[in-house]
Amino acid sequence: MSQQSDFSREHMLALIEKLNDYSYAYHVKDDPVVPDAVYDREYRALQAIEAAHPDWIEVDSPTQRVGEKPDNGFANVTHTVPMLSLDNAFDDESLNDFDQRIKKLLGKEDTITYCCEPKLDGLAISLRYEKGSLVRGVTRGDGLSGEDITSNIKTIHTVPMKLRTVSPPDVLEVRGEIYMPKEGFEKLNRQAAEQGEKTFVNPRNAAAGSLRQLDPKITAARPLVMCAYSIGYVEGWQQPSSHYEGLLQLNEWGFRTNDLMQKVEGAEGCIDYYEMLSNKREALSYDIDGIVYKVDTIALQNQLGFIARAPRWAIARKFPAQEEMTQVLEIDFQVGRTGAITPVARLEPVFVGGVTVSNATLHNKDEIARLGVQVKDFVVIRRAGDVIPQVVQVIKDKRPDNATPVVFPAVCPVCGSDVEQVEGEAVVRCTGGLVCGAQLKESLKHFVSRKAMDIDGLGDKLIEQLVDQSLVKTPVDIFCLSEKRDELLAMERMGQKSVDNLLASIEAAKQTQFNRFLYALGIREVGEATARALTNYFKDLDSLMAADTETLVEVEDVGPIVAQHVHIFFEQAANRATIAGLLDAGVVWQKQKSLDADALPLNGKTYVVTGTLSQFSRDQVKDKLQSLGAKVSGSVSAKTDCLVAGEKAGSKLAKAQALNVAVIDEAGVIALFEEHGAN
Ligand code: IVH
Repeated sequence: MSQQSDFSREHMLALIEKLNDYSYAYHVKDDPVVPDAVYDREYRALQAIEAAHPDWIEVDSPTQRVGEKPDNGFANVTHTVPMLSLDNAFDDESLNDFDQRIKKLLGKEDTITYCCEPKLDGLAISLRYEKGSLVRGVTRGDGLSGEDITSNIKTIHTVPMKLRTVSPPDVLEVRGEIYMPKEGFEKLNRQAAEQGEKTFVNPRNAAAGSLRQLDPKITAARPLVMCAYSIGYVEGWQQPSSHYEGLLQLNEWGFRTNDLMQKVEGAEGCIDYYEMLSNKREALSYDIDGIVYKVDTIALQNQLGFIARAPRWAIARKFPAQEEMTQVLEIDFQVGRTGAITPVARLEPVFVGGVTVSNATLHNKDEIARLGVQVKDFVVIRRAGDVIPQVVQVIKDKRPDNATPVVFPAVCPVCGSDVEQVEGEAVVRCTGGLVCGAQLKESLKHFVSRKAMDIDGLGDKLIEQLVDQSLVKTPVDIFCLSEKRDELLAMERMGQKSVDNLLASIEAAKQTQFNRFLYALGIREVGEATARALTNYFKDLDSLMAADTETLVEVEDVGPIVAQHVHIFFEQAANRATIAGLLDAGVVWQKQKSLDADALPLNGKTYVVTGTLSQFSRDQVKDKLQSLGAKVSGSVSAKTDCLVAGEKAGSKLAKAQALNVAVIDEAGVIALFEEHGAN
């Protein structure tokens, strides 16, 4: 009999076992054993048998994860053993105190072994198994009793419906955290935004919202994960003598456990673990808000017991909070280089994500509408890793009486020119161009910046003074400053020496490169990489300036929008005059050696550069890599081919290792340059 047409009960049981094995490998071990298509085919075969024999359906059949709504909502259930909370340690010192306290209480001099675990940022859950089968899943609630959310819990694939053992304990209560991985959270929010629905503030709230659904079908569609972190209660089984061993057993029985948990010796080991995990935090695929340290020996845990609502044998060390609440004092409007008018929230300063934040961009009109933010509102600010601070939520309940809606300016707040909003775009722009002081200042700052014309000594403050005093009205005027010595000497903090240095670096900057010059012009959407692609493609400035949009889109990474921006830029008389003026003033560059981008040795490869290098700056390495044809990106992803990691590489290195991306050090990159003659 062929497998497909075998409708026997034995075959059904075998299919269930096989599918549960696949699922365990995929969801718990992160190590799939068959392609998705095989799983799907066998799943359909099981569905067919169950449809023909509904009376055969087993509780641990994978088809039984999504059931019906509970009739009377979520019932309240008292926990067999209370679900405790944890005391907090905020620094190394309080961690040392914790270790000392434990030794004193135990009357021991020996080093204590701790189990260190990431503190997962989700919701605590207690799962009860009787004779190996899941009977109930209950939320933490107030620690003494919680809500019975079994129907929702069953939809989570990392929750085993049956323990993977032939001799399970009579009763087992497993405690753990339910959370939503970052990627799933972002996808869920993207979908919600597309459908005009409310988005979640963070993965924790999304996990909570998903578990609170009365309809398990909704929960089933949410990417939730359950990770076990302790045994709460057990009957009919001899627990291992260590917490760590207990977790390994849970993993064998079918629960996901955290692969970063580790046994360490003493407070010192705990502090080293903190260092290690702090560096990994950003690169993890899920949010953590700290570390939980637990005395590993169960007998010692029992000896220590608990006080009030927290065990004496465990402590949480929190990471700096990534979210905080503060008040919007004012909303200002900044005009950028391309005229984009950006609302910026001026905040009551707040310490978040390790720094004090007093401003946060509100991006544009749409974002203000999405958040519903008003001046004087209390808001949640999030700063994670190096990401710029974001306003993620308005706390509407706390809206003060003097709150006022945001009024978007009808004219440019700097030059008074009309503003425009292109249909389909969220950005409102000033139409003033270089007549607008703000656009002129920002364009000049960009023009002289390190990756553009690289004029040393021409800082933001000086540019602002030069524009305010009408000494510089276009980039060309910078190259005429040698005629304005007296005016320069009259400026703040400008002595003979600094004026000499400035004029010398302006002179030196005239010798540039085609790609730097193009980037310096500040054409919309033309960043460093696009400028390089364009100058690799076009032999000289004249042919680039003459190119139509059809030709421009032939350049790698140049789409119709960028092509349009480039074309319009070169069409404008004012821009052509500026370019002619710059060339007249003596700006020159050497013709490029290799014009054939395809022939470059690192063509098609994506590199990321991080950490501190001793022989080169990071920008020099990037320049060299790009000159060999590589793309240089700012962040590590699965698409990265190689990470160049200097000293103190931090989270990018951790992420590259997690993603199995090749990593080379400074010596490696020097060897690469030598190999391709780029030194
Ligand atoms: S152990 C008695 N381990 O942190 C032991 N808790 O206040 C109590 N949490 O909401 C918990 N990750 O859900 C423990 N690896 C971990 C944890 C963890 C996250 C949560 C827990 C509770 C809070 C403790």
